[in-house]
Amino acid sequence: MNICMIGAGYVGLVTGACLAESGNEVICVDVDARKISLLKKGEVPIYEPGLETLIKRNVKEKRLTFTTDLATGVKNSLIIFIAVGTPPNRDGSSNLNYVYEAARGTGKEINGYKIVVTKSTVPVGTAEKVKMIIAQEAKHPFGIASNPEFLKEGAAIEDFMKPDRIILGVEDSMVEELMRELYAPFVRTGNPVLTMDVRSAEITKYASNAMLATRISILG
Ligand SMILES: NC(=O)c1ccc[n+]([C@@H]2O[C@H](COP(=O)([O-])OP(=O)(O)OC[C@H]3O[C@@H](n4cnc5c(N)ncnc54)[C@H](O)[C@@H]3O)[C@@H](O)[C@H]2O)c1
Repeated sequence: MNICMIGAGYVGLVTGACLAESGNEVICVDVDARKISLLKKGEVPIYEPGLETLIKRNVKEKRLTFTTDLATGVKNSLIIFIAVGTPPNRDGSSNLNYVYEAARGTGKEINGYKIVVTKSTVPVGTAEKVKMIIAQEAKHPFGIASNPEFLKEGAAIEDFMKPDRIILGVEDSMVEELMRELYAPFVRTGNPVLTMDVRSAEITKYASNAMLATRISILG
């Protein structure tokens, strides 16, 4: 499948490289021109075991490319992941401006049926807001999904390639079918793809983070 990954940060690069490794054509888009220029030269801006090898192999096989041009990414892809940063605001809430900016840009460039997936960690209701923003701009039908990421830095490739479970929030069966197809190579060992509505997927990520934080603070 043709995939666009908006945000070539930690999550975007790991997800993009792993999806390319499973045979998809992935275009990573980032607003950071310096980062994209490094990646184009084969330099990986973050350290994560196995990531550089994976990126180099998939770039060589022409399944993984990098650009600052959102239009190229969106127009050439069926599934568009939003994996941009969501830094904390002063009050501790997430700054969703990058997410909304990516959604607005995506909506403007949609040139046929697309699925737009929120991968960034976002509060409940964000996917619906993303849908509204895209709808204001888009001239073609599209579907949305919420697919939070659970990878741990230091074991990110392993976590992505062999996930305990994949959380998929969807609104319709076509989106579910295509997303299941995309993830099929990663769940061959029988780990589940848990589908639910988009709000449930969004709260699952926060519930999981809260559980992990509680476990660490109690057990050390
Ligand atoms: N790092 C982790 O371990 C981890 C794990 C799970 C979930 N998450 C979540 O995933 C999301 C991304 O995290 P990260 O660690 O990859 O962040 P990051 O800061 O490493 O990368 C974010 C990237 O998005 C780019 N960006 C910002 N706005 C953009 C736009 N409009 N278009 C294109 N690119 C844009 C930035 O230039 C940057 O390269 C966050 O919501 C984070 O909470 C992170």
